[in-house]
Amino acid sequence: MVRHSAAQAPNEARSYRDIPRPPVWPVLGAAPALRRDALSFMLEARRAHGDIVAMPLGLRPAVQITHPDLVRHVLIENSTNYGRSPMTDRLKFMLGEGLVTADGERWARQRRMMQPIFQRDKLDGLIPIMTAAVEDMLVRWNVLARSGTPVDIGAQMGQLALDVITRALFGKSGGPLAEDVIRCIPILQEYTASLFWTFNPLAGKLPTPNHRRFRAALATIDTIILRFIRERTAAGAGDADMLDALLRARDPETGAAMDEKALRDEVITLFLAGHETSANALTWTWYLLDRHPEARDRLEAEAAALGSAPTTAGDLNRLRYARQVAQESVRIYPPVWSFNRLALDADTLNSYTIPQGTTVFIPPWVLHRHPSWWEDPERFDPDRFTSARSAGRPRYVYLPFGAGPRTCIGSHLALMEMQVVLTLVASRYRLRLTSDHPVSAQALITTRPSNPIMMRLEPQAKAS
Ligand code: HEM
Repeated sequence: MVRHSAAQAPNEARSYRDIPRPPVWPVLGAAPALRRDALSFMLEARRAHGDIVAMPLGLRPAVQITHPDLVRHVLIENSTNYGRSPMTDRLKFMLGEGLVTADGERWARQRRMMQPIFQRDKLDGLIPIMTAAVEDMLVRWNVLARSGTPVDIGAQMGQLALDVITRALFGKSGGPLAEDVIRCIPILQEYTASLFWTFNPLAGKLPTPNHRRFRAALATIDTIILRFIRERTAAGAGDADMLDALLRARDPETGAAMDEKALRDEVITLFLAGHETSANALTWTWYLLDRHPEARDRLEAEAAALGSAPTTAGDLNRLRYARQVAQESVRIYPPVWSFNRLALDADTLNSYTIPQGTTVFIPPWVLHRHPSWWEDPERFDPDRFTSARSAGRPRYVYLPFGAGPRTCIGSHLALMEMQVVLTLVASRYRLRLTSDHPVSAQALITTRPSNPIMMRLEPQAKAS
């Protein structure tokens, strides 16, 4: 494998205009190509032009970086020079100023307050909650399996991940109110996905039927979340679920609690950031497992060896292969295919000066397929993540959860959830694709299958 360093760049100063670039439109820049097929465009841009590529968005400067040294520079060493991109701002009308959309001091304060809630050792109590959500799904699956009805696995994993995050946030008090949230969240998700590649400034503002449906769903969710918050505040926060933890959170520097608006923004952010990504990762994993029976057999053997549903951190420690499967699945199909930063001031990347206001794309989709760091990158091989084979791999070529101060706050939760779901489902069912056709990936807010993935549920005792 050829390994090269970003530091090998020549010493003379070069400007943004000198950065290699794919052919793009005069005024629109790379926007049409990104909208048509961002995944292929970004991959090909790296292959043809290297680890720093200019990709102007209309008349605004933008670059893609795919070298671990450059990624470290932007996300870690000079992270204070890189803020939220305007693409993220577009979610503010829905998420308010929650962790995903907030910036500057407000973000730093919220992150300080929420970080302890998501530490790995604080999450063990969620394992039985996850197991219970899967068991409920498996009861529904009994009926479908008996009638031989194939399932849309994306829809099933979406419902499951939403159920998990609802139970985690609201615990037992969820009940019928949470059902309304569960009904409305997919409406928000579909609406924001439909706007994702729209560059029309009026998009999202016109009173189309979809827009009205979206506003109604958002209003319903807001009412329910505020009701949960008010009831809980009046009763006094206990120690039962994440809502309690958010109510009890205090800024370690000032001792202040979150106000009602901040709580609302964080709860809706956790709902949206915490379920579509996980659902996506699980969906692709079932797809990959059916196409790689040797990996599926090992996962099933590990699940059988555990002998019961995972309920403790000790159980998860024994499920090493399930973890590797999850890690490899989010390498091949990273749910967040690219994340972006905005340069607050001019900076030098690989000896090119990029102007203030440059959007920097950091695409896990491309980094995870970089032939300098991954052997046979398109091959599904969970053993890449054994400690022996991970040793020596640069940290910043594997970014399913980002890195640096804004790294995913839910990464431990997400990996635990994947381990629990994969193990418990694999112990009861073998999921078989109904068609041999390869499924392609589509870049929306997350990396989605371009068509529904239909699977048959074979009860394990009968699976051959
Ligand atoms: C497989 C599942 C998941 C993936 C692949 C994923 C991926 C990511 C990535 C790449 C980022 C960083 C984006 C950036 O740097 O701009 C991020 C941020 C975030 N994620 Fe996740 N995520 C997952 C699950 C979750 C879950 C389960 C939660 C919460 C329950 C969550 C909550 C968040 C939040 C709040 C942020 C913003 C953090 C900040 O800016 O301080 N994510 N996620």
